[in-house]
Amino acid sequence: MQFLHLIGAVAAAVLLHAAPAAGQTIKIGVLNTHSGPFATLGDMIDKGYRLYMKVNADKLPPGVRIELVVRDTGGPNPDKAKQLAQEMIVRDRIQILTGEVFTPNALAVAPLTQEAKLPFFIMNAGASVIVTRSPYIARFSFTLWQSSYPLGAWASRKYRTAYIAVSDFAPGHDSEAAFEKAFVEGGGRIVGKVRMPVANPDFVPYMQRVKDAKPDVLFSFIPAGRQATQIMKAYGDLGLDKAGVKFIGPGDITTDEELQNMGDAALGVITAHHYSAAATRPANKAFIAAWKQEYGEKSSPSFMSVGGWDAMDAIYFVIREQKGKLDPARTMELVKGYRNPGSPRGPIYIDPATRDIVQNEYIREVRKVGGQLANVELETITAVKDPWQEYQKK
Ligand code: PHB
Repeated sequence: MQFLHLIGAVAAAVLLHAAPAAGQTIKIGVLNTHSGPFATLGDMIDKGYRLYMKVNADKLPPGVRIELVVRDTGGPNPDKAKQLAQEMIVRDRIQILTGEVFTPNALAVAPLTQEAKLPFFIMNAGASVIVTRSPYIARFSFTLWQSSYPLGAWASRKYRTAYIAVSDFAPGHDSEAAFEKAFVEGGGRIVGKVRMPVANPDFVPYMQRVKDAKPDVLFSFIPAGRQATQIMKAYGDLGLDKAGVKFIGPGDITTDEELQNMGDAALGVITAHHYSAAATRPANKAFIAAWKQEYGEKSSPSFMSVGGWDAMDAIYFVIREQKGKLDPARTMELVKGYRNPGSPRGPIYIDPATRDIVQNEYIREVRKVGGQLANVELETITAVKDPWQEYQKK
C-alpha cells in the first residue's frame, strides 16, 4: 500500500514536471538604457522585442506567459548594471536575462550570470570578448569585428590611406583593431588615429585633424543614435566630403533611425553591417510593415531593434522547447542549436562553439530611394563568424 502510494507520488511529480501549470509565468529581466544621452538606443531595442511579443503572442505554450522586469542603467554604467542584475536575480528571481546596449555593462554582469547559472541573451553589446566571459551568455546582435574587418578588406582594394577615429571604449577599440588589421593586410596605410570620448564629444576638432591629414578614407565608430548624426554633420560642415575624404565605418554611423536627420552629407557614405531597414528581402518587408503599423509611418527600426526582435525569438524558442519549464543548462544547450533562416537581417544561427551569432554582412551605400536616405545593400558577405574568435583559434 505504502509502495503504491509512493508510485502515485512519483507519477504525480512526473506529471507536474511535464505539463506546465495553468497560468505559469516566466520572468525575464531586461537590462537596458532608457534615460540619459543614449536613451534612444534602449528605446530602439525595447520597441523591437515588444513588437516581436505582440506579433508572436500565439507562439508560447498554452498557459505560459512572460513577465518582463525592465531596469534602466542610464547608459554605460557597469556598477549600476551589476547592482540591478543582482537585484533581478535575488529579489525578482528572473529566469533569463536579456537586453543591454553597452559592452561595459555586459562585461560587469557576466560573472553574475555564471554564478547564478542565469542565461543571458544579449540584444546589442558588441565587443568580441563578452561571450568568453561566461558560459551562460549567447549573443544575438553582432560584433564590431564582424563589420569592421570585412570593411577594412573592402576598403584596401579601393583606397590607399585611412584615418581611424573611434569612441574610446571596448567596441571602439575592437572596431579600430579589426579595420586596421584588414586594411593593412590588404596593402593600405594608416595615416592617423584618434580615440574620442564616449559621451557628448564635440566632433569638430577631430574632423579638423582628419581633414589636415588628407587621408583617402575616414573610418569611424561611434555609438549609434544621436552621435551618428552629430559626427555626420561635423564631417559635412568641415567639407571633408568636398575635400575628397570618403567616410566609411560599421553601420552604427548611418543607423537607420537617425538617417533622415543627417542630410545630404551622408550621401555616398559606405558602411558594413548586418541590417538595413531598406533591405528588400521578404522577411524584412514584413518586419518593416509591422513596425510602421505599430509605431507610425515615419518611425524606422534600427539594427538594435532587430537585435531585440531576434533575441526574443530565441527566448520563445527555448521556452517552447522546454514547455515552459526552464532549466539553465538545457536552455544553453538549446540556444547552441538555434537558427533562424527568416530574420529581418537574413539567415542567422548561433555558433555552438562560441555562443556568438553568425550572419551575413552587407556592404551598403547611403543613397536616396524615393526621396529618402537609405542604406542600400550592394554586396553580401555570407555567414560571417566573428573574425576575432577565428584569430584566437590560430
Ligand atoms: C557597445 O557598447 O557594445 C555598443 C554600443 C553602441 C553601439 C554598438 C556597440 O552602436
